[in-house]
Amino acid sequence: MTDKYQNFIAGAWKDAKSGETFENKNPANADEFVGVFPSSGPEDVEEAVAAARSAFDAWRKTPAPRRGEIISKAEKLLKDRKEEIARLATREMGKILTETLGDVQEGIDTAFYMASEGRRLFGQTSPSELGNKFCMSVRMPMGVAGLITPWNFPMAIPTWKMFPALICGDTVVLKPASDAPATATKLVEIMSDAGVPEGVVNIVHGSGTDVGMPMVNHPEVDVISFTGSADTGRVISVAAGRHLKRLSLEMGGKNAQIVMDDADLELAVEGATWGSFGTTGQRCTATSRLIVHRDVLDQFTQMLLAKAKAIRIGDGLKPDTDMGPLINAAALEKVERYVEIGKKEDGAELICGGSRYTDGDCAKGFFFEPTVFAGGDRNMRIAREEIFGPVVLILPVGGFEEAVDVLNATNYGLSSSIYTQDVNRAFAAIRDIECGITYINGPTIGAETHLPFGGFKNTGNGHRESGTEVLNSYSEWKSVYIDYSGKLQKAQIDTFEQ
Ligand code: UN1
Repeated sequence: MTDKYQNFIAGAWKDAKSGETFENKNPANADEFVGVFPSSGPEDVEEAVAAARSAFDAWRKTPAPRRGEIISKAEKLLKDRKEEIARLATREMGKILTETLGDVQEGIDTAFYMASEGRRLFGQTSPSELGNKFCMSVRMPMGVAGLITPWNFPMAIPTWKMFPALICGDTVVLKPASDAPATATKLVEIMSDAGVPEGVVNIVHGSGTDVGMPMVNHPEVDVISFTGSADTGRVISVAAGRHLKRLSLEMGGKNAQIVMDDADLELAVEGATWGSFGTTGQRCTATSRLIVHRDVLDQFTQMLLAKAKAIRIGDGLKPDTDMGPLINAAALEKVERYVEIGKKEDGAELICGGSRYTDGDCAKGFFFEPTVFAGGDRNMRIAREEIFGPVVLILPVGGFEEAVDVLNATNYGLSSSIYTQDVNRAFAAIRDIECGITYINGPTIGAETHLPFGGFKNTGNGHRESGTEVLNSYSEWKSVYIDYSGKLQKAQIDTFEQ
């Protein structure tokens, strides 16, 4: 396996025009080098966009089922290389191997789903108000899609964007996160092996400033899809707005799990532990607030602490590790900063963790202990702001309505969960929670690829990933009217006569 990676433009692997490079390190051991990547700039974006643009015409005319066959081949190659790619993903972004295997599996599932979508891409047929006239709507490809992806799901999220774009007939330029560029490169390698025509899939490595923003501002890029922080999303939104460009944003969360007094507590604690500390809390769907009924608060808290303290921290490639490191030094500093903020806020008490973890082999990585705060209220900064680390806050409540109120008291609205045995409360929660995803008796993480994924409020801008809904991000609707009367029929003016 080579550790030198390149851009892929117009069917050829190449360095950045400037010759500049950057290195990627293992967050579990900052001394361990993973790969060297081109540090590209606007001139590389220019070349990739031109390649994608010139490949577009032939690709849009390729029948969608054919486009699906290429995605099917990619699905098979992903299956064959699942373990190898998952190991690489763990080395470059830290989460444990069972989770990176799940990440690749999510890519496989997305391939399966989107490949078959090539035989549907359904539009509508409808009656006309006039006689001898037929109406239908069809999806049209948009052109070049610019995909800007994060490091926490380095395989799943690129596939979430790339496969629907391709099935709709768009060509793509992918800019993966600089913290996890190797996994995305493997996906592009697989697309090339699967037979994707030259220029249809391109990857350009580099920073958001030098590659991401030039893509957003490029007049030949018709749609941008971004997953990342709300701060970056806002900057992209302003730039894309200036160009009146289609933009799909998938951003932060401050997801909560409600635990009612009638919950199966064992199950609720298991869910809370997985939701809060799985992926080291670095999912946009991660649980960062536990809203717990006072009647079960003490018991729930004790049970959660036992589980949190038992979590084994370490290198994600070691089979006995439960939780890997944070992604980089900046993430570690951010989590530390929030722990300090939490300690100073009125009402919240640090009851577990709160420090860097440096035991043994972990000294060279960006490890942090599972951390639990308890008490305080919905207005605290640690109750409102996304921390993106293994930090969770327990907020006590007196009943169902208060619980939903507290859950909704945030600017985000991605995922949510309620543990209760009461079916009436469960349905009321589905009705009242202002989030794009609600789980009943399950944690806030673990969305499946065939349902819409996205959130209310500052989590997004109204678009969805996944499901068939994602197709709306990568296609335009065309309404078609076919008049077979042989005469001029004026809609809204002529009336139908037998
Ligand atoms: C993300 O964290 O950006 O629902 C995506 C989940 C995963 C996807 C998370 N299937 O937790």
